[in-house]
Amino acid sequence: MKILITGGAGFIGYFLTKHLLECGDPNWSITLVDNFERGKKDEAFAAILKDKRVSLLNVDLTDLASFSKLGSGYDHVYHLAAMNGTKIFYERPQDVLRVNTLSLIYMLDWFRQNNPKGKFCFTSSNEAYAGALNAFNILPIPTPEKVPLVIDDPYNPRWSYASTKLVGELFVIHYAKAYDFRALIVRPHNFYGPRAGYGGHVIPDFCERIASKIDPFPIYGADDTRTFCYIEDAVRAMRLLMESQKTDGQPIDTVHIGDFEELNMRELAEKLFEVTGWHPKSLDIKNGPKGSVKRRLADVSKLQKLTGWKPEVSLEDGLKRTFDWYMAHPDVKK
Ligand SMILES: NC(=O)c1ccc[n+]([C@@H]2O[C@H](COP(=O)([O-])OP(=O)(O)OC[C@H]3O[C@@H](n4cnc5c(N)ncnc54)[C@H](O)[C@@H]3O)[C@@H](O)[C@H]2O)c1
Repeated sequence: MKILITGGAGFIGYFLTKHLLECGDPNWSITLVDNFERGKKDEAFAAILKDKRVSLLNVDLTDLASFSKLGSGYDHVYHLAAMNGTKIFYERPQDVLRVNTLSLIYMLDWFRQNNPKGKFCFTSSNEAYAGALNAFNILPIPTPEKVPLVIDDPYNPRWSYASTKLVGELFVIHYAKAYDFRALIVRPHNFYGPRAGYGGHVIPDFCERIASKIDPFPIYGADDTRTFCYIEDAVRAMRLLMESQKTDGQPIDTVHIGDFEELNMRELAEKLFEVTGWHPKSLDIKNGPKGSVKRRLADVSKLQKLTGWKPEVSLEDGLKRTFDWYMAHPDVKK
């Protein structure tokens, strides 16, 4: 099996590579592509690079010249590279729009011309339909894949990212049909774990505030609900979907990946206080960021029907592993 992972040094890319190395055979080869805009060259990443099956290409996927270095004949291509992180959506919406869209178009053109038997996985996001939850209060919860994709306010920079995922889904659907290749769209719902960085991920941000014993403890959008899927469970779901022949047909499948346990930000903070053994004397409840969606709970029955997937890491265990990792790595970049 010949595999390519773009964004291979990032949060999901690292854990996906580790997982594929653990369950793949000695003949597999895995090529990682990253420009280290956000990816990390830390000890963990150096350790996977020591495996003979792994090679790294340090290239920028918005530069067309990079594509002559990617090679050809891949069986599975996971396209994870993107500008990600809520802070970046607000601070650099123009870069988010450019990088995410341009790299996807270049990737799809390279893929269709160089990988006749390959299968392409695009990581979209729950943000692609988050606007629909705000715009139509009647959407079902848990929310299935087949709901409208909506950008309810193009002037709010938050939606720069969501719009690239929305249009990205359309590119993948229509390229796969026009050029007759196998493809899959996954929509991650808040994957969490070690090595996710900071900059808008709620769990690392809470861990940082707990470590600094910030009291009163600020919680933004305390009543907003989400689910959290531990990264090892998440990448297993991605592999199972890519390996399943049930996702080889047309029209291509869009599949939610996420956990079932819905909790609000206040409950999440309480769980972390329990796991870490530190409780602030009081909470400082603040409004969520403009445009933040109140309730987000994915219907993951399609994933289960296709693969039989079930999460294996409990929220308590996952939070503990994550907190411990952040405490052991105080120098991780923001
Ligand atoms: N983590 C989540 O819960 C989550 C949720 C929804 C969607 N996603 C999607 O999954 C994918 C991976 O997310 P992640 O959490 O690992 O993000 P990440 O930021 O950790 O990883 C993305 C990687 O892409 C690389 N990259 C960015 N621009 C590049 C370019 N022009 N050329 C080459 N490499 C480039 C970055 O350096 C980084 O290592 C992204 O597409 C993201 O939008 C993730």
